[in-house]
Amino acid sequence: MADVKNILKNMTIEEKIGQLMQQNANVFIKTDAQITGKQFNNGYTQDELSNIGSVLNFKSFSEVKQLQEEHLKNDRNKIPMSFMMDVIHGYRTIYPIPLALGCSFDPDLVTRCTKMASKEATAGGVHITFTPMVDYVRDARWGRVMETCGEDPLLNGIMGAAQVKAFQGNSLREKGTMATCVKHFAAYGGAEAGKDYNTVELSRHVLREYYLPAYKACIDAGAKMVMPSFNSLDGIPATMNKWLMKQVLKDEWGFNGVTISDYNAIGEFLKHGIFDNEKDAAKAAFSAECDIEMISNTYLHHLKELIEEGVFTEQQLDEAVLRVLELKEELGLFEDPYRGVTEEDEQTAFLTPDSRTLVRKAAEECAVLLKNDGILPLSKDVRKIALIGPLADNNQIKGFWACHGRDDECVTVKEGVSALVPNAEITVVKGCGNLFDDYDRSGFDEAVKAAASADVVVLCLGEPQNYSGEGNSRLDIVLPGVQDELAAAVCEVNPNTVAVTFSGRPLSFARLSNNVKAILHMWFPGTEGGNAAASLLFGIANPCGKLSMSFPYSVGQCPIYYNHLNTGRPKRDDSRYYGYCSNYIDGPNLPFYSFGYGLSYANFVYEGLELSSDKLTSSGAIEAVITVKNDSGLDGKETVMLYMRDLVASTARPIQQLIAFEKVEIKAGQTKQIKFNITESMLRFWNDKDELVSEKGRFWLSTGYADHLIFTKEFELI
Ligand code: GLC
Repeated sequence: MADVKNILKNMTIEEKIGQLMQQNANVFIKTDAQITGKQFNNGYTQDELSNIGSVLNFKSFSEVKQLQEEHLKNDRNKIPMSFMMDVIHGYRTIYPIPLALGCSFDPDLVTRCTKMASKEATAGGVHITFTPMVDYVRDARWGRVMETCGEDPLLNGIMGAAQVKAFQGNSLREKGTMATCVKHFAAYGGAEAGKDYNTVELSRHVLREYYLPAYKACIDAGAKMVMPSFNSLDGIPATMNKWLMKQVLKDEWGFNGVTISDYNAIGEFLKHGIFDNEKDAAKAAFSAECDIEMISNTYLHHLKELIEEGVFTEQQLDEAVLRVLELKEELGLFEDPYRGVTEEDEQTAFLTPDSRTLVRKAAEECAVLLKNDGILPLSKDVRKIALIGPLADNNQIKGFWACHGRDDECVTVKEGVSALVPNAEITVVKGCGNLFDDYDRSGFDEAVKAAASADVVVLCLGEPQNYSGEGNSRLDIVLPGVQDELAAAVCEVNPNTVAVTFSGRPLSFARLSNNVKAILHMWFPGTEGGNAAASLLFGIANPCGKLSMSFPYSVGQCPIYYNHLNTGRPKRDDSRYYGYCSNYIDGPNLPFYSFGYGLSYANFVYEGLELSSDKLTSSGAIEAVITVKNDSGLDGKETVMLYMRDLVASTARPIQQLIAFEKVEIKAGQTKQIKFNITESMLRFWNDKDELVSEKGRFWLSTGYADHLIFTKEFELI
């Protein structure tokens, strides 16, 4: 064990501030271009460079080794640097984007994928990952919805906590484990108009009720770091927002780990117009106890001066630096700056057959069957298949934030289908332009011709993978370009057409659904996407995903979410012109596909929901039993959900709120009873006095899925 307190005692103030700095790897690497360009070492002196405490955006373990060795030669205190990276949904073997992982409703699957990613990433030299991202989302226009597990606080929190535990294991000294950094604290997903980095204006009630719980679940699961978000909240950038960073994070939640700014976020206080100088920016961030400054250099340039001026004490600096050193100690870096990793590890760790099998299974479990007029699964005896669309023979299906994943290691739909039905005659036609989003219809004739002569057409449509992720918000959420038209033209000549779709966000499928007989949504499924799509299309795998985020009928509905309030004038039915109630005169209120929706090739019949009592005391429990029958000849998995509604409360409550779920395997013809225990704590909400309370009165419990609840039963909290 390193005596970090003693190390701290021997550090100069410059060395201490260095531990609060994080830079890209390339500032340390002298290449010709960099030596001549400004990029080289970012203008740091050699001492400043030697003091930097952590690094991000490095290429490999061999680069980590080179930088660490160089650093330890120059660092007087021999404090190893920590190496951090965004391992969001895989390191080299890529599994589905987190929004898709949410659709699995399977924390164990998330755990297995995360452990695989952690093993690969640690072999790549990663010590800390900027994961999980658990920003609560309601607006499909926002590009970073792909990075979170969706619009339900409970699901997001469970999946986030599973990632924390899987990355961190039982001890950070175990090989293959790494520390986690939960982000982006807070409410980055509430960006107005779904526009990335945009202003967030939310009430404390909404923050506490919807946006904050998942971060807390990750901190309760043991996350070692927290990253505040770029956005302002109440007009104050989150990174300097003391209500968030001190009152909530530390005083209320008891977080005592390391905080790290997002990329240049402290420097961006000037862009926000909060300050006109970096010294004040440094003062505000450090006052809010943001420990590490990523990329910007306000601490380097001003923290020493602020301490000399008495704005901060050196004790405050020591506290921040101690948190950083203690995390490095917990990671075992002082004993072994390479954490037991060797260059040989990189030769064997990536893309193993087991990893490929796992991520294919994950892609199968995360896919959501949105429509099926009986055409799926396809027969393996099919003779002539037309694969049509920009994603038919396209390996760009790993999604954004895919770390060191490579497109050329991803299996395309064409490759997957060809492998599964080698005797079929497969014709592949892109049908539209290279960029997906252009208006090039020159491929339509060839596509229609191929469709006309095929037994079945599989349309492979969607967004380019750079249409979502950071900085990639959209004004609309329809299929880009002329893909809807392509689908209509193809279906005109061959009604036996199904669509396999790819995206990093919910899309509006209203037009597509009018044309095709089935829609299988793959999200961005990762390295084994094509094999997973083929397995699902031909029934080798039975779809079981349920939507983690609503699919709007139109972008005009955004933000749209299932757990909404009733309002004083709820829409009473699907009548189009009810008038004077909360609805649109030119379209529906409900999303096109609701949260929790997803079909199977099996037929799950919900036979009832029974409660053990209609009275619940604050110390008691009610058992809810849901009976489901698989009334088909196919085994399958079903996520059984329990929704609650608090009918009368001092603060308006959502019309439906997921409070429990369980994914169960139900064999052909089998009936299962799924049991949940309901306790008072599951009924609590944040009232207008900032208190987490439950209130006596009537509640409903239902099953089914959002907007389509069944077997509603009433009980009373007494
Ligand atoms: C990015 C992202 C953040 C990420 C960081 C480091 O701008 O906002 O999620 O962890 O920079 O890559």
